[in-house]
Amino acid sequence: MALERTLSIVKPDGVARNLIGDVYNRFEKAGLRIVGARMLHLTTAQAESFYAVHSERGFFKDLVSYMCSGPVIAQVLEGEDAVAKHREVMGATDPKKAAPGTIRADLATSIEENVAHGSDSVENAAREIAFFFAETDLCSRTR
Ligand code: RTP
Ligand code: MG
Repeated sequence: MALERTLSIVKPDGVARNLIGDVYNRFEKAGLRIVGARMLHLTTAQAESFYAVHSERGFFKDLVSYMCSGPVIAQVLEGEDAVAKHREVMGATDPKKAAPGTIRADLATSIEENVAHGSDSVENAAREIAFFFAETDLCSRTR
């Protein structure tokens, strides 16, 4: 087990449907601590850059448009094995395939509008955290 940080986003559908608290509650119940958070409305250029890994995929244009359709809230989660634990709490990309009790199974409406983003590796987490936050924006817990 290793203490890790990971990047989480409540996507525009989650924010619009007032699900921020529900999603945060699931993180906290899983032992993940929020150590930084900010709300922003992504520009097209920001969304294209954030999801650049998918730029050749058929769903890329729709993904960028969805991610820019309203504000998002980005947060850094800290905890033991935070990257994998967070992905477990989120569930599979497609809510129809996500395990019961996960964010996507319980709250998502489609494979595209699936409420939450989570980094998929420690390396990508570091890159994605730096995309949204300076080190000084993050507050390690002292109690
Ligand atoms: P995320 O990066 O947002 O945490 O999602 P993920 O790892 O579970 O899935 P990924 O393959 O990285 O896909 C990124 C996001 O693109 C949208 N998507 N649409 N229409 C489609 O077939 C499709 N596939 C993916 C979803 O919003 C997905 O979360
Ligand atoms: Mg992904």
